[in-house]
Amino acid sequence: MLENKIIVLTGGSDGIGWECAKAYVKAGATICILDKNEVPDDRAKELITTDKLLMLTCNLANEQQVQAAFNTIIEKYGRIDAIHNNAAIAHPSKTLDETTNPEWDLLMDINLKSILYTTRYGIVHLKKSQGVILNTSSMVGSLGQDNHAVYVATKGAINALTKAMALDYAPFKIRVNAISPAAVNTPTLQAWSQEQPNQHEIENYLNKLQPLGNMPKGDVIADACTFLLSHAARFITGTILPVSGGAELGYRTLI
Ligand SMILES: NC(=O)c1ccc[n+]([C@@H]2O[C@H](COP(=O)([O-])OP(=O)(O)OC[C@H]3O[C@@H](n4cnc5c(N)ncnc54)[C@H](O)[C@@H]3O)[C@@H](O)[C@H]2O)c1
Repeated sequence: MLENKIIVLTGGSDGIGWECAKAYVKAGATICILDKNEVPDDRAKELITTDKLLMLTCNLANEQQVQAAFNTIIEKYGRIDAIHNNAAIAHPSKTLDETTNPEWDLLMDINLKSILYTTRYGIVHLKKSQGVILNTSSMVGSLGQDNHAVYVATKGAINALTKAMALDYAPFKIRVNAISPAAVNTPTLQAWSQEQPNQHEIENYLNKLQPLGNMPKGDVIADACTFLLSHAARFITGTILPVSGGAELGYRTLI
């Protein structure tokens, strides 16, 4: 589905991003991972071939580092077909009044402003390739979540930004969509769980959240992302696609 595509993937070294990396390579793409952490060698071997992986260590909150990463990609491949903005942090789990200025700034910089940087340095190349942008949002960006105010705000902003970008770049035949997971078993989710007061109930809650079944791993998200990046989704833009097992449906008591 993604044969010979050059895909920039932020936060691709772990969690949902790593599952996307594997799925994109399996679908025929070459992936350029921008992440603060490298993919460990033993994990990289899970790819069909590591020739399809360019690892660029980069702090997405640092504009110069993002610019340098895009320069390296263009020097090596000469083009970019897709950008998947996936990296985020979810810490701290706090109400707004408890949030410090540095905590606000860091969440905004990594989760939201990084999309400004990847677009600033990537859009010229996507205009040439009539490429695709995919943003990883979260169901909490539309539903809200207690005790997680700034993270929720970044994801709500991503939903709005996705629609604005879809309109701005449609004249260039660039599609812009978002995926919206609920709970997915990843390092970030585990860290969030450990911040909650009722830890003994959390695992049960996360498994009951999805009417379709227990909390999934990132492969279910990666399959939907592969579709949205592919030609099969060629007339879909501005969509916030829930990949949530139905977590947002109905009025249900979970605990
Ligand atoms: N796990 C869930 O339940 C869940 C639910 C909804 C949405 N999401 C979203 O999915 C995406 C991936 O989350 P995940 O759970 O896989 O997280 P994760 O922690 O497993 O992976 C995040 C990746 O981003 C990288 N990263 C973080 N800060 C960075 C920075 N400043 N510069 C470069 N790289 C950085 C990390 O090194 C890591 O590889 C995020 O956008 C998250 O908000 C996750």
